[in-house]
Amino acid sequence: MGRLHQRHILVAISGGIAAYKGAELVRLLKKQGAAVRVVLSRGATEFITPLTMQALSGEPTHTELLDEEAEAGMGHIELARWADLMVIAPATADVIARLAQGRADDLLTTVALATPAPVAVAPAMNQQMWAHAATQDNVALLASRGIQIIGPDAGEQACGDIGPGRLLEPEAIVATLSERFENRSLEGRRVVITAGPTREAIDPVRYLSNHSSGKMGYALAQAFAAAGAQVELISGPVALEPPARVTVHQVTSAVEMCDAATKLAGDADFFIGAAAVADYRPAAKASEKMKKQEGRGLSLDLVENPDIIATVAQLPNRPRIVAGFAAETHDLLSHARAKRLRKGLDMIIANDVSAPETTFGSNQNAVHLITAENETHLALASKYVIAEHIVAALATQLSE
Ligand code: CTP
Repeated sequence: MGRLHQRHILVAISGGIAAYKGAELVRLLKKQGAAVRVVLSRGATEFITPLTMQALSGEPTHTELLDEEAEAGMGHIELARWADLMVIAPATADVIARLAQGRADDLLTTVALATPAPVAVAPAMNQQMWAHAATQDNVALLASRGIQIIGPDAGEQACGDIGPGRLLEPEAIVATLSERFENRSLEGRRVVITAGPTREAIDPVRYLSNHSSGKMGYALAQAFAAAGAQVELISGPVALEPPARVTVHQVTSAVEMCDAATKLAGDADFFIGAAAVADYRPAAKASEKMKKQEGRGLSLDLVENPDIIATVAQLPNRPRIVAGFAAETHDLLSHARAKRLRKGLDMIIANDVSAPETTFGSNQNAVHLITAENETHLALASKYVIAEHIVAALATQLSE
């Protein structure tokens, strides 16, 4: 599913010879699955009819600010609120000037003022008009207010001039607009991720743990959510803010993490073990604080913790893709390959924790993605960028 799927795009067309390209723009947006509504300026109706735009958008075309019929359906304020994005294409020199002044003397400029959504402007005019200081000042002012300026293109113009001022081709406008939205390639997919360390209680005040910061697992949760997936993050104790649109399940020990994972992972599309799970826990937790025995050492009796990811990989309703991390200090690749096979994983992400820039707590990472078919190296980058690459590779693996 594309980034524009089900997005509400308000296309405003002003009166220039390029207005006919607005029709193609609407057609392409609809093809991407966007919901499109069209505003035509009075000038635009000289070039293109409301009926054409209604047929292409599948919605009534809006032309007048004060039109009883239109206001009874969707008034200008509702229209402004409905939009996820407003694009004015083509935008004439006059519309740009009126936007710069904050005028509200027709439907198009009123909606542009009233919408809380981002606004993009694709200018189209004669090259001399585009080059004029007045237009350039107006465009700079709009850009400084956060309005996105798309184009214009340069080349031969309807009036016979050659130079900058042509409306950018509708395909290019759509491509630029779609980048404003997150991709939704994993919409409808469910992913369960473990992250952070576990704490294994010795007594009420002491525990065994490790240096995991949880940053890699949280970055993965964020990247999966950005791709539209439903994300369940099983997190050990960390000092991180939960990412937006992610359901966090807080746990402390490996046994708690394992319980949560086996409950949540069944039938998921992905399970990612990014947690640094303690391999052992004290055989028994002392119910009271242990007192120091002066002059004597102390031995702790440890028992093995469940291997969470291996347990998940063996569930009868196993997630379709199970991926884990191998944090190693030596013989990175051979240990990682063996770990992938031993735990029954579709992918293992090998991570050298002996190097200072990729060790626990760092904001960066460099990893190898190892599957049965291939091995890819991802060079040092922020954990979020690494997470985006991992998500893309896992999505590809799922589709295969
Ligand atoms: N893992 C797990 N449960 C455990 C131990 C590890 O789910 N009890 C997962 C980790 O989340 C990671 C992968 O297994 O995805 C590998 O973790 P690692 O600690 O490197 O593997 P171990 O099996 O503990 O191997 P070793 O400590 O001997 O290197």
